[in-house]
Amino acid sequence: MNALNIIKKTQLLPLTTLVSRDDVEPLCDILMNVSIPLVEITLRDERTLEIVDEFKKFPEIKLGIGTIRTKSHIDIANEANASFLLTPGFSEDLADYAASKNIVMIPGVQTPSEIMKASEAGFKTLKFFPAELSGGVSRLKAYKSVFSDIKFIPTGGITDENTLSYLALDNVTAVGASALIPADLIKSKSWEEIRNKLEKSKELIGNS
Ligand code: 3PG
Repeated sequence: MNALNIIKKTQLLPLTTLVSRDDVEPLCDILMNVSIPLVEITLRDERTLEIVDEFKKFPEIKLGIGTIRTKSHIDIANEANASFLLTPGFSEDLADYAASKNIVMIPGVQTPSEIMKASEAGFKTLKFFPAELSGGVSRLKAYKSVFSDIKFIPTGGITDENTLSYLALDNVTAVGASALIPADLIKSKSWEEIRNKLEKSKELIGNS
């Protein structure tokens, strides 16, 4: 199954910024254990660039690399065998480069013009970012009839409180959230709590 189909199935895209190689194995174990076999690792820290290839040891987890802003980020993702890439905004140049490497890309958009550009470039699943600050559910409702062929993955400000209202929209494939893998729990290596958190989120959306 390709990455987009797995995201569609899980409806949850957990994301985090790992900085230690040692955290990769326990995180992958948990993701397998809760049947969410994918994760977005955001390139928000120089140290992440050094360790992301550790995911190669866990091919059962579809690796997404987020906060992609340069071609060298795409090279790093490619070397780490990433299955998909996410960009905060839309760049045709980066989209072409990802295509040349045969990696699925989910470009970020906020406005109608950006959606039109990404759609013209052939993208039909887009990250809606930053979701809550950009009008959230109301804005996506307004996009429904205008961009009827486009699906969104809202990200940015997604919590347990608003997840269901996003997933209730026909044009939402999944939600992306760092709240699914709280940074403080990674820091304290509280793996059991992370597992519980992911299980609770699955229950919340009726996907347990
Ligand atoms: C992203 O990297 O896509 C977002 O910044 C995540 O936003 P969140 O931390 O509010 O989930």
